[in-house]
Amino acid sequence: MFSEATRARFAREVAKYPPEQKQSAVMACLAIVQQEQGHLNADFEKAVADYLGMPPIAVHEVSTFYNMYNQRALGRYKFNVCTNLPCQLRGGGHALHHLEQRLGVAMGETTPDGLFTLQQSECLGACADAPVMLVNDRTMCSFMSDDKLDQLVEGLKNAEPSR
Ligand code: FES
Repeated sequence: MFSEATRARFAREVAKYPPEQKQSAVMACLAIVQQEQGHLNADFEKAVADYLGMPPIAVHEVSTFYNMYNQRALGRYKFNVCTNLPCQLRGGGHALHHLEQRLGVAMGETTPDGLFTLQQSECLGACADAPVMLVNDRTMCSFMSDDKLDQLVEGLKNAEPSR
């Protein structure tokens, strides 16, 4: 199921742990699969489980515990807006609502052009910068006023080759 290149990436992660603890690489392997495939599913989880010699259910437990793992195909840009209490007290809910209006989708949905998926998230560990959001699990965006949200959406749209 996985290419040689993917298996080589797995091997580099596994090599970071003692041989009898190669299952410790499960999160990294799942992240690699998601980076290459865009999302996870039962087949990918089973293949990772086989590679690491662990039960598929144990891999599934990991992939469904952390919301950075996509359980389905999402838009090119995944917006995770923090709505935990500290952010909620400083506009987190408003930021999420603004994006719903701006993108024309409800939380959890993907725009019809396949560009944006909007989700809420738990604390991102940057409460002092509220409201905050994470783009594609990698890029933290702080102090997201309506203007900054609009600029972010426009910037990403404009960065796309015309469709
Ligand atoms: Fe939003 Fe902590 S509550 S980053």
